[in-house]
Order: sequence, then C-alpha cells, then structure tokens
Amino acid sequence: MSPLSGSGANPLRDTADRRLPRIAGPSGLVIFGVTGDLSRKKLMPAVYDLANRGLLPPGFSLVGFARREWANEDFAQVVHDAVKEHARTPFREEVWQQLIQGMRFVQGTFDDDDAFERLRSTIEELDKAQGTGGNFAFYLSVPPGAFPVVIQQLKKHGLADQKGGSWRRAVIEKPFGHDLRSAEELNAIVHEVFAPDQVFRIDHYLGKETVQNILALRFANTMFEPIWNRSFVDHVQITMAEDIGIGGRAGYYDGIGAARDVIQNHLLQLLALTAMEEPASFDADALAAEKTKVLGAVRLPKDLGRDTVRGQYAAGWQGGEKAVGYLQEEGIDPKSKTDTYAAIKLEIDNRRWAGVPFYLRTGKRLGRRVTEIAVVFQRAPHSPFDHTATEELGKNAIVIRVQPDEGVTVRFGSKVPGTSMEIRDVSMDFAYGESFTESSPEAYERLILDVLLGDSNLFPRTEEVELSWKILDPIEVYWDQNGKPAQYPAGTWGPVEADEMLERDGRSWRRP
Ligand SMILES: NC(=O)c1ccc[n+]([C@@H]2O[C@H](COP(=O)([O-])OP(=O)(O)OC[C@H]3O[C@@H](n4cnc5c(N)ncnc54)[C@H](OP(=O)(O)O)[C@@H]3O)[C@@H](O)[C@H]2O)c1
Repeated sequence: MSPLSGSGANPLRDTADRRLPRIAGPSGLVIFGVTGDLSRKKLMPAVYDLANRGLLPPGFSLVGFARREWANEDFAQVVHDAVKEHARTPFREEVWQQLIQGMRFVQGTFDDDDAFERLRSTIEELDKAQGTGGNFAFYLSVPPGAFPVVIQQLKKHGLADQKGGSWRRAVIEKPFGHDLRSAEELNAIVHEVFAPDQVFRIDHYLGKETVQNILALRFANTMFEPIWNRSFVDHVQITMAEDIGIGGRAGYYDGIGAARDVIQNHLLQLLALTAMEEPASFDADALAAEKTKVLGAVRLPKDLGRDTVRGQYAAGWQGGEKAVGYLQEEGIDPKSKTDTYAAIKLEIDNRRWAGVPFYLRTGKRLGRRVTEIAVVFQRAPHSPFDHTATEELGKNAIVIRVQPDEGVTVRFGSKVPGTSMEIRDVSMDFAYGESFTESSPEAYERLILDVLLGDSNLFPRTEEVELSWKILDPIEVYWDQNGKPAQYPAGTWGPVEADEMLERDGRSWRRP
C-alpha cells in the first residue's frame, strides 16, 4: 500500500491494519462528458479495473450523462468496448455482469433542467435498486468552460445536498482556471455549492505510484534526507517531455500552451513534493500544509527574459518519420504564439533551499517521452585526485524516473578498472518491474477509489492551485508582451535558448 493511504485519523489511535485493501462503501459515480476521450480511455476502464480488483461495493453504480440519444443498453455497450480496449486487467464476464446492473444513462445538455431532474430520479432509483445509500460522486470530465454550469445545475437540482448521513462529492478535471483570477472565480463558484472536503481537483500525476514514492524515498529512509538541502544539492531539474505533437487537441491546446497545461499543475506539484518539509503525518491536512508552505516560498527569477524560455516546435523528424511544425498543425492559427515548450528557473526562499535553482521544463515533440526529477549534487569540496582522473566525472545525481521505466537511479563516480586512477560515472538502478511482482495501478484507478473513500491526500487544494497560478501568471504576462516563442525542430530537445539559459549558470540539461 502507498505511504499516502490513510483516512487522516490519529495514528496512535488508529489500530486498523492498513495493509488490508481499501474497499469503497456503498456508492455510485456520475460521469458528465461520458462520451469524451478521457472517459473512454481512462475513466470507464479504471472503474472496471477497480471492480475487477474487488475494490468496489457489489451495488456500485455508474451513471453516464451526455447529449447522445442513447438507451441504457447503448451506454453499457460503449463502456464494454472502452473496457475491452483500454482496461489494465483481464476481462471477466462475472465482474462485467455485476457492474452492468448499476449502469444508467441520462441524456441531456448541461443547461437542460429536465435532464438534471431525470438525473435526480435516476439516483433515487439506484439508491433503492442498488443500495447506493445516496452516496454519489459527480465527475466533471467536460470542457473547462462547462465546469461552472454543471456545478450550478447540481446545486439547483439539490444534487449536492448530503441528506441523512449520505455524501456528495465533485471531481473536477484540469485545467482549473487559466490564470489566478479565473481559478479564484471557479473556486468561488465551486465553494458556493460544495464544502472543501467535498471537492476533489484532479492532478492525475499525484495518482502515479512513482510520484507517491517521492514521499517514501524521502521520509521512510535515513540516507537521502540528510543531503536533501542547499549544503549538498547543486540544483534540481524537473522534466516532463513528450514525443507527440498536439494530435487532435488543437481546440484545447492553442492559447493554453505547455506552461499552463503542464507546469502550473504537474510540475509544480512535483516540485512541492520534492522540496517540502516532512509533514507530521500523511493526514491530508498535514500534507497540504507543507505543500502550500513550499509553494508559497517559491520565488520567480528577477529577469524573466534571462531565466525563462518558451518554444514552439517547427517541422522535423520524430521516430524516423517527418513531423509538421506546430503552426502547420490542423486547426492552429498560423500566427499562434502558443508555447509547446517551456523552461523556467525558480528558487525557494527558505533555509533548506536558499540559492538552489529548480529548473522546470516541459515540451511536445521532444526527443523522448520521459518524466523525471533529477536532484543534482555539488562536486566534492576537495579532490585528492589528479584532474585527469576526474575529467569524465559528472555531478552525482539521484533521478526519480516517474515514467516510463519507473524507478530510481543514483549516479556517482567509480574507478575504471586498470592500473591508473580514472573515475567515470556509473549508475545504480531500482526498477519497479524488477523489484516488485505487483503491477502498478493506473493513476485514475487510485484517484477514483480515493474519491469514493473520501480520501483527499492526492488532490490539490484551493490554496495550492491558486499559489501555482500566482507563480505562473507573471511569466505568461511577460511572454505575452515580449516577442515570440523560439523555434525548435521536432524530435530535438527544445530551443537552443533553453540550453543557453542553463549554460549561463554553468550547468546543462540532462539528456534522459
Ligand atoms: N483527454 C485527455 O487525455 C485529458 C487529459 C487530462 C485532462 N482532461 C480534461 O478532461 C476533460 C474532458 O476531456 P476530454 O478530452 O474527454 O474532452 P472531449 O473529448 O471533448 O469530451 C467532452 C465531453 O463533454 C460533453 N459535452 C460538451 N459540451 C456539452 C454540453 N453542452 N452538454 C452536454 N455534454 C457536453 C461531450 O459530449 P458530446 O459527445 O455530446 O459532444 C463530451 O462527452 C477536460 O476538462 C479536459 O481538459 C482530458
């Protein structure tokens, strides 16, 4: 079980065996936007995988809400096809037959009051037929512009009310706003209807085993934490690189860009987990308090022209195939200034990290798909070796490989066998695939289960989301007012300006 599990109870009083699987109680899930890409590829398969692992209650119910004129049977067929295509675990007829008992479809648009009334009666019917006990989570897998109307409709039709000990929860997909102001406005709308403990904002990175493992690595061991500070660390690099372009998502991506899409949420959450102090417990409040504290201590560079870079992919080669440039992609404005690459340098104003830069970068059409956190250490303060002996020695590093090839690498110098003293970098590797027989659940399995259990550890809170926008907003404003994104050929590691940004600091990006 992951280190983050737990209901937030006092560990001294909590005698439950936490190794037992956490199974959701009577409940159901309503998915808005159920015909969408996310629902088909991730949400429906995750629900099935949870059922297959025995983690859902027998009467679990799944309600789809969308515009199509489907009967319950049509909806069940769509779920069936999505599960067959995308589920992680094998298809078992008996699991499917049980799941299908609680499947319903409600047809309508988000502004259709009758449809929300039908949703209300469907939930009441399921409470009777399936024993869901009034406990429902509403998953907003819809275009971000539709978040407010769905939330308001839930309120208007009494669907957010928690009657007679039942619970109601709202799950909100990313992006949560497009700047600080819009995030504050959305938070205000959400909290007018739902209390903070009813709201689950999705950052699916937090559902990944490798991300939760940052906490295990740092706080369950003794050997890392003593060197996890400015006395030993030279800098930290957090990378999320994609080898794909924007695919069919032009409508969503153009005008949003890499920094808003990835840095504001995923990379700043990774920074928070890497840099925060040890929480008193893994209680959701304690964890959020530490993440909030460190995000609040992040300092932007003084010269945004020097220490941030945005880029846009030009035509190039990717995996032996020709790739078109961003401006030639279907549906993209040929004058678009949207960033498909972003690199920023941040510092953290506290005693642990003063003077240690955190370099964050993300991009599309880069050399390889990889997400990693590299903690790079200073060189030894004194070297008794001849300088020729250490010519090929880099800086020591601990690299947390988030995806793919999930694991951790420690890089350090070792003597090359032979008569002379020559020291070269070597790696010590932990790979999930080799060390554990269990395969990792998909992030959405973990997150949906946590929503049903009311466990909010892995969901960013209001303050975290707003602090992250506060960090990003001035950069976006600066970019907006100054020039155009630098170009980089598809299949490379980003614009040369990003390399120069690190060279000026006497450092270089890792080539994972
Ligand atoms: N796709 C991903 O991999 C991914 C990853 C991370 C986050 N997200 C987030 O997840 C959410 C959903 O993304 P998606 O890619 O699944 O979007 P999508 O494919 O465009 O699906 C949107 C869904 O919303 C429904 N919808 C839109 N307007 C509606 C209206 N007025 N009334 C009723 N239904 C309406 C659509 O129904 P129709 O079929 O009737 O049009 C469709 O089911 C977004 O917030 C996105 O940012 C997606």
